[in-house]
Amino acid sequence: MKTYLVTGGAGFIGSNFVLYMLRRYDDVRIINLDKLTYAGNLENLREVEGNPRYTFVQGDICDQEAIKTLFEGNEIDYVVNFAAESHVDRSIANPQVFVETNVLGTVNLLNAAKNAWQIGDDEYREGCKFLQVSTDEVYGSLGAEGYFMETTPLDPHSPYSSSKASADLFVKAYYDTYRFPVNITRCSNNYGPYQFPEKLIPLMIHNTLQHKELPVYGDGMQVRDWLYVEDHCKAIDMVIRNGVTGEVYNVGGHNERPNIAIVKTILSYVKEHVDPSVGEGLIKHVEDRKGHDRRYGIDPEKIRRDLGWFPETCFEVGIEKTIRWYLTHKEWMERVTSGQYQEYYRAMYAGK
Ligand code: NAD
Ligand code: TYD
Repeated sequence: MKTYLVTGGAGFIGSNFVLYMLRRYDDVRIINLDKLTYAGNLENLREVEGNPRYTFVQGDICDQEAIKTLFEGNEIDYVVNFAAESHVDRSIANPQVFVETNVLGTVNLLNAAKNAWQIGDDEYREGCKFLQVSTDEVYGSLGAEGYFMETTPLDPHSPYSSSKASADLFVKAYYDTYRFPVNITRCSNNYGPYQFPEKLIPLMIHNTLQHKELPVYGDGMQVRDWLYVEDHCKAIDMVIRNGVTGEVYNVGGHNERPNIAIVKTILSYVKEHVDPSVGEGLIKHVEDRKGHDRRYGIDPEKIRRDLGWFPETCFEVGIEKTIRWYLTHKEWMERVTSGQYQEYYRAMYAGK
């Protein structure tokens, strides 16, 4: 039995990972540590609530005592750090909390794991690993050509990506300085079930179903490389098991699309299958995001070649599954978009 400390496991990717691992393996125990910010939702984890191999702990990765106690009370084999402030627009409005959670929280976790696993000078308990879930945004923005490789220099632009790049550098420093066993994965934009509707795809699905305006930043020709969340979970599992210690692995969907094309795909699916009254008249080009990165595109050749991973879900299948998931989870959407979300939405899109 291997014990995983999954942080941020009540968020979008984290909860998909917890569900994926517990469905797939009988010899995995998961401790999910999550602060339950606006982005964390225990409803995502109903399926595993009574599972004896699953424990939820509400807590903050910045809390030194709480993390230390967690390591003292459990023989943890792996840390998978999803916990983060994850939304670029929020980071532009308030960078401070991004530094606290994404940078200081990661260093706190690294320290606690190092103290718990160390058995000698630069020696650690056999088989332990710390996996930092990072993002392709640390590489900055691409022009029309080329891809992000693991060797691409870090050049983050937003407060969010700068905080993630800082965390990556600390993870690297723990490997370089202490030989502490780490991996970093850098993935492209995820989509799928349980994604909070502040991000492009669930926001556009939600607004389309509600006949609300679809706010496209600037000309909508910014390109993202979309990855179905389950494919990402599979990649993380493979990197934990077989990734070479100290290495970075890029995880991408081979699926670049301009934002406007994503919005039109969602609109046409809803029009054809759900509500014929919606149309492109809902699209509204609004003021562009500050410092908006133009294009992200990952070359996932290293993880394919070394670990045999490839994205199995093509976009057409993934987006249909995702829209269907939101259609069958209308109450989830209603609950997460009531209350604070209304205030967030008004403030973020006011005057746009
Ligand atoms: P999310 O915002 O949906 O979830 C983040 C989770 O972390 C929430 O459950 C929240 O409660 C928790 N959290 C926040 N601060 C915490 C703290 N101080 N202590 C403990 N828990 C805390 O994010 P996501 O989309 O699931 O992203 C997960 C990870 O993947 C993040 O590290 C993010 O940077 C990275 N990532 C995400 C994407 C994407 O497309 N969503 C792409 C690349 C990388
Ligand atoms: P987002 O989902 O916030 O992810 P990221 O900024 O981390 O890539 O945004 C994806 C793209 O969609 C990005 O280019 C910004 C754009 N976007 C809009 O055009 N309108 C919106 O309302 C949102 C939330 C995003």
